[in-house]
Amino acid sequence: MTSTASTLPSNHPPAGIHSLWRLRGYLKRHIPALSVMLGTSLAGVGLSIAIPLVTKAIIDGPITDGEIDPVLPLGLLALGLGILEAALIFWRRWIQSNAVLGVETDIRHDLYEHLQQLPMAFHSRWQSGQLLSRVTTDLSSIRRFSGFGLLFLLINITQLVVVTGVLLHMYWPLGLVVAAAAVPIIYLSMRFEKAYVVVSRRVQDEQGDLATLAEEGALGIRVIKSFGRSRHVSDQYDDAARRLYETSMDKVRLSARFWTFLEVIPNLAVTLVLLLGALGVGRGDLSPGTLVAFIILMLSLVWPIASLGVILAMAQEAMTASARVLEIFDTEPAIVSGTRSIAEPRGHLRFEHVDFRFPDQPDDELVLRDVNLEVAPGETVAIVGATGSGKTTITALVPRLYDVSGGRVTVDGVDVRDLTLPSLRTIVATAFEEPTLFSMSARENLTLGRSDATDDEVDQAVRVAQAGFVHDLPWGLDTRIGEQGMSLSGGQRQRLALARAVVARPKILVLDDTLSALDVHTEKLVEAALKHVLSDATGIVVAHRASTVMLADKVALLQDGTITHVGKHSELMATVPAYRQLLAADVSDSDALEGVR
Ligand SMILES: Nc1ncnc2c1ncn2[C@@H]1O[C@H](COP(=O)(O)OP(=O)(O)OP(=O)(O)O)[C@@H](O)[C@H]1O
Ligand SMILES: [Mg+2]
Repeated sequence: MTSTASTLPSNHPPAGIHSLWRLRGYLKRHIPALSVMLGTSLAGVGLSIAIPLVTKAIIDGPITDGEIDPVLPLGLLALGLGILEAALIFWRRWIQSNAVLGVETDIRHDLYEHLQQLPMAFHSRWQSGQLLSRVTTDLSSIRRFSGFGLLFLLINITQLVVVTGVLLHMYWPLGLVVAAAAVPIIYLSMRFEKAYVVVSRRVQDEQGDLATLAEEGALGIRVIKSFGRSRHVSDQYDDAARRLYETSMDKVRLSARFWTFLEVIPNLAVTLVLLLGALGVGRGDLSPGTLVAFIILMLSLVWPIASLGVILAMAQEAMTASARVLEIFDTEPAIVSGTRSIAEPRGHLRFEHVDFRFPDQPDDELVLRDVNLEVAPGETVAIVGATGSGKTTITALVPRLYDVSGGRVTVDGVDVRDLTLPSLRTIVATAFEEPTLFSMSARENLTLGRSDATDDEVDQAVRVAQAGFVHDLPWGLDTRIGEQGMSLSGGQRQRLALARAVVARPKILVLDDTLSALDVHTEKLVEAALKHVLSDATGIVVAHRASTVMLADKVALLQDGTITHVGKHSELMATVPAYRQLLAADVSDSDALEGVR
């Protein structure tokens, strides 16, 4: 076997029976179906023993005695039992598939819901391909085991015990031969199981890696093409695909070897039983009918014995899978909704001694230190700072994409952590520097924050954001925007994101460098319109250009993670060299605008 470095996002949590046990709640709804499944299966075991016994009766009775009359009723009985067994199998399978797919759907639903609530840090830690592959393949291994594996484990063990008992009772020397033949099969299937689990897990991980590569290749196609890296990227993909192929082949080879042994050992046992059985019949120790029934029963054990290993492997796989799925479930939503809401929000925003570091950063490395800032209702503050100084981080604290590490952020005097998330998020709307659009219609993208917005409100927001281009799209507002808004220009995406924030009619509007991709002319138009919107709302505007700063009533200068100066643009310009330097390129421009103000 080749060994490849697998890129697991985190250590596998210890897998065990308890992790499967914790998912038992999902089976509850299906208890009636499960009972039917168990009942029909046990009845099936009974039938599979009864049929050889009827055969024995036919051989030892009418056939040995040369009487033809009782053959027909006994034959019909055997046929009837056979049909009944088939019907039971059909019934069980039908119920099984229903129940089992139900379980999978339930888990999938809860998992997706939970993923939506998980902290940003969780999503940045996981490669999304791994996440996708985990959700899909892990759920199906859980489904396979809880639906088929568990049931067959019960049935097979029952069958094994009962049939071995019957065999020993029929003729114990041969019974011992059968029991002896079972030992190497069980041993081999245990060994097979262990190796199989290892290979399967590698296949799973490699599938995850491949999915990640495929996804990055699709999302990053612009970068890849423009750097002429298509070759390199497809080579990378080929390598990963080849690794997956080799590991999958290992898996196949392993199975092939195992199944071959599985054919050989029972055949050897049958030969031995036939020989010894013939001797026994000759000596009069057992009847020919018993020998036939014996062999039929014995062959019926091959599958239960052999599949024991496979089922144990399945159990192992399901345990690992459920441990990994539980790892997702166990990741606490770090952002917990509060209980309060504000009836008539005014939009008075305060940062009080706010400290912040990212969850996986060491304690002493703060991204924000003792940030104090007050934005009165209706007021707009521009945040200016060098790249990497923490501007985006400040804006993320208001809608609670992250929570503060120290101090607090309040809206109308209420800590944002005490507010319910829905109420907080109707008060605050944000437009980020890297706007994310979804593959749905332009209208749906615009009304994401407020689905009840009227057409007028949408139109108005589109005008404010100078996003009139949406009306020129082939189907206007109903045009479906490609994945991540790839079919739009950067500036178009920014303007849609801005319009989306405006449609939400928030009390607090947070704009993180939302105008950076616009040309100077469009920017001026947007700013003029924004001024109007911002006069009603409290605003935080991250600005890199003097022209954007002009939107604001006052400016906060962020240096090394803390706000060092707050004041009017002209004051800071005159008294703070660092501020002057940051906006140096725009000085003449801003002077001109200052004159306009
Ligand atoms: N998810 C994260 N985990 C750890 N550190 C982060 C994370 N996101 C940002 N940082 C760090 O936090 C600091 C502040 O980042 P932030 O994005 O707030 O800067 P910014 O002022 O918005 O910069 P820019 O002007 O380039 O947008 C940076 O040093 C950055 O490396
Ligand atoms: Mg930023």
